[in-house]
Amino acid sequence: MKKLEMLPSWRIGHPVIDADHGKLIAITNDIFDTIEDLDFELCEELLKSFVELARDHFRREERILIEIKFPGAQTHIQYHQGLLEKAEETRKLCTEMADRQRLIECFRELAGFLVDDVVKGDMSFKSFMIEAGIIEPRD
Ligand SMILES: [Fe+2]
Ligand SMILES: [Fe+2]
Repeated sequence: MKKLEMLPSWRIGHPVIDADHGKLIAITNDIFDTIEDLDFELCEELLKSFVELARDHFRREERILIEIKFPGAQTHIQYHQGLLEKAEETRKLCTEMADRQRLIECFRELAGFLVDDVVKGDMSFKSFMIEAGIIEPRD
């Protein structure tokens, strides 16, 4: 399975947010490994941590967005809510499944959810942060 890599274009420039995204990507790659090794027990454990980490990350990110008065904060909070529901649903599905192929498909969806937040969702406030002088623009 192809591992996720923290691409330079995924970087927001905010240390707290980037650190969280890095951790989420790392745990996603660890989960890929457990699926490959058919270690379902560890997989389930890591999936639980993944959902917790995502929830914590969203909370932190939302606090920052409210603090800096990002006009799209409420929309982004709702967007996070949708992603969390999807992640939780996928985790449940994964937990119930023993079939490796379906587990892989399920997990791909969950990894896609992560990329959705990091790549698409969070880009919506990056330019606002630059304009507000909270982060430095990069190349
Ligand atoms: Fe994020
Ligand atoms: Fe986000």
